[in-house]
Amino acid sequence: MINKMKGTEDTLPIEINKWHYVEEIARDIFESYHFSEIRTPMFEAVELFKRSVGDTSDIVTKEMYNFKDKGEREIALRPEGTAPVVRAYVEHKLFGPEFPQPLKVYYMGPMFRYERPQAGRQRQFNQLGVEVLGTSNPAIDAETIALAWDFFQELGLKNIKIYLNSLGKTAERHAYRQALIDYFEPHLEELSEDSQRRLHANPLRILDSKDEQDQAFVKDAPIITEFLSEQSLNHFNQVQEMLDILEIPYQVDPYIVRGLDYYQDTIFEIIVEDDSIGAQSTICGGGRYDGLVEQLGGPNAPGFGFAIGLERLLLLLDEQEIEIPVEDNLDVYVMAIGQEAQGTALRLVQAARQTGLTADRDYLDRSIKSQFKTIGKYQTKLLLTVGEDELERNVVQVKYLASGQQKEVSMDEIMDDFIGVFRRHTMDTSVIDKFFEGE
Ligand code: HAM
Repeated sequence: MINKMKGTEDTLPIEINKWHYVEEIARDIFESYHFSEIRTPMFEAVELFKRSVGDTSDIVTKEMYNFKDKGEREIALRPEGTAPVVRAYVEHKLFGPEFPQPLKVYYMGPMFRYERPQAGRQRQFNQLGVEVLGTSNPAIDAETIALAWDFFQELGLKNIKIYLNSLGKTAERHAYRQALIDYFEPHLEELSEDSQRRLHANPLRILDSKDEQDQAFVKDAPIITEFLSEQSLNHFNQVQEMLDILEIPYQVDPYIVRGLDYYQDTIFEIIVEDDSIGAQSTICGGGRYDGLVEQLGGPNAPGFGFAIGLERLLLLLDEQEIEIPVEDNLDVYVMAIGQEAQGTALRLVQAARQTGLTADRDYLDRSIKSQFKTIGKYQTKLLLTVGEDELERNVVQVKYLASGQQKEVSMDEIMDDFIGVFRRHTMDTSVIDKFFEGE
């Protein structure tokens, strides 16, 4: 037997309704904010992620699925969605006047990171992300954070919290970086191995180390806010004012840094406060990346976005016992009794499908009893039965299973009218009553 690869998941038919539910709510909300969908390839040139996510980031140094293809090209399965969207933006010149400005796009799909798998952390996982390109207006920061917040509210998530920070511009971050090196260097020996390695490569990352020993030093480390220019502070304050106007709760946390190099100014994370999904409590992360478009060969176009980890979100919905409607998807079941009735059953089931109803029948020669079990499983609405007697008289028995109402209908009526009636009224109870009461 060949099993699935470590860190991957199969989504089985019995759980797909959860995905559909979350995706549908996401699409509705994204569209109400006037975002359009974009789809980019699953793999890209490795160089794209090196130049954007960063040469020294964990994602690029440790977690990337990269390989040479048969044409000797250096390829990576995408570890995230922002760099591919920016690449597409530059490549298709989506900054041009013929496209809506700013460009507001969303995406859903698998990303790949070679991480140690555990609950809520896979090697292939799905992100739901948005990107806004072409403006540095702080209103975009606030409204995009509001979008993520609205989405979680609509799903009914509890105990979630927004953490906000600003990383300032490159020069400010450089000064801060140096201050961090100066601060941590005397304690080098006492830091965790990871942090020792990061001290010169990426000292900001020490700030979100989970290591207890590191945290003892982090709590007195210099904070970025002291290094921000007036312009950056102004931007950050405006974002906060707008979140206040929208009454969206958040907490400023100067030690949030994010693990990708392209950020500047506003960054944020949305965390689940209870331990329902264990260590993997960040369900959404994002921020501003004003230099990235230029870095990837485009114009000086600012950007802002976020991504949500869908597996984590679904785990959380389970943990918080949030009810997800079951897809109740069988309008009509056609039961043929005896070999002779098979042809008629075929005609009936197809007629129902062609009018837009969901319809099914038996293909396994199952007994009537076991067919009834199937019907129960799907919460079937209408049962159409044809046996020898019905065939002879050219009729069909119709039963509305919820109420037990039953009626014999001629085959002609069924084909010409009945199924059409149900389609037009999408099985409204008043129509059903009328039908069975013989009006
Ligand atoms: P990120 O923080 O690397 O940001 O990932 C965003 C979210 O994806 C995380 O908060 C988490 O919920 C989920 N996630 C990440 N890795 C895994 C994994 N191995 N298994 C399951 N879920 C995972 C980004 O990817 C940025 N591109 C977000 C962004 C968009 N920034 C601006 N625009």
